[in-house]
Amino acid sequence: MDSIELPRIVSPELQSDREELPEQGLEKSLRPSFMGEYIGQKKVKENLSLFMEAARVRGDALDHVLLAGPPGLGKTTLAHIIAHEMNAQIHIVTGPNVEKKGDLAAILSNLQPGDVLFIDEVHRLQKTIEEVLYGAMEDFKLDLIIGQGPAARTLRMDLPKFTLVGATTRTGLLSSPLRDRFGVQLRLDFYPVEELEKIVHRSADVLAIQIDGCGANEIARRSRGTPRIANRLLKRVRDFAQVRTKNGQGVGTSITRQIAQAALALFEVDILGLDPMDRKFLFTIIEKFDGGPVGIETLSSAIGEERDTLEDVYEPYLLQEGLIQRTPRGRMATRIAYHHLGILGNEEKSTDSDCI
Ligand code: ADE
Repeated sequence: MDSIELPRIVSPELQSDREELPEQGLEKSLRPSFMGEYIGQKKVKENLSLFMEAARVRGDALDHVLLAGPPGLGKTTLAHIIAHEMNAQIHIVTGPNVEKKGDLAAILSNLQPGDVLFIDEVHRLQKTIEEVLYGAMEDFKLDLIIGQGPAARTLRMDLPKFTLVGATTRTGLLSSPLRDRFGVQLRLDFYPVEELEKIVHRSADVLAIQIDGCGANEIARRSRGTPRIANRLLKRVRDFAQVRTKNGQGVGTSITRQIAQAALALFEVDILGLDPMDRKFLFTIIEKFDGGPVGIETLSSAIGEERDTLEDVYEPYLLQEGLIQRTPRGRMATRIAYHHLGILGNEEKSTDSDCI
């Protein structure tokens, strides 16, 4: 019998693909509209604000921007902020959803001067479609082929100056002709706990959830450096606080560290934010491959998860926390992983002493 896979509570990916589904709605309602409201990513903000101001003063469109980094860190949010601050409309597409050249031509020919075209997962555009983009990005021209066979003609159409904002989880997968056409290239990093705490407090305010500093700290520490995960955990911990405290009459119960810890233990999210799938990843390297090195393809079959998912979704955080290493011969589990899993004795990180 086929098993049904449940979405992971700590997945950095959006858990629905349609605007009207709950998680999209949640993201929209929590999304800051101005750079001033956007927490963290100081360098990225500074760079973008500078280039936007310069373009505004010149009365020009902002140069094309490439935003790279793991999922859930706020690339889409930044694209919206860029459009908002440039007083422009945003048009949104996802790389693999642009199936025909005509789809892209239709989008490009509908742009107004200064508009933002946001292409998410831009590394997954088909090659032939990517080639249409080159002329559009560089010369603001679109070559359309009219008719078929010997009667076919090429029509060159002028496009307004627009800004392409591309988002990618993997710069390495972007072809260099495409990458080189982005005048601004910025990388988003995982957020430190202090910034995630601020994001949790801000989201709690927007959603009218009561939470104290220690509760926010506990959620932040287990959010894998990722605002999308912090916001999801906040909502789930709110549910727990509502139902499991005060005999189910706990609407409005303030989230404390104790409540957050009990909720996250139930959700099997550990102190580093790892869930059972991450632990399976680490245990597989350690127990089946003697700690590694093990090639990514082998690991992918042993775990039963696609290579791309392992590389895009699981590994960035495990690497950042020093739990695994990438070597030319494959992945290795580090001493930190052995300690974290309690194989070499547990090195529990202490919680803040002034919190209960
Ligand atoms: N919500 C998600 N990411 C955010 C960020 N970086 N700043 C403020 N709110 C957010």
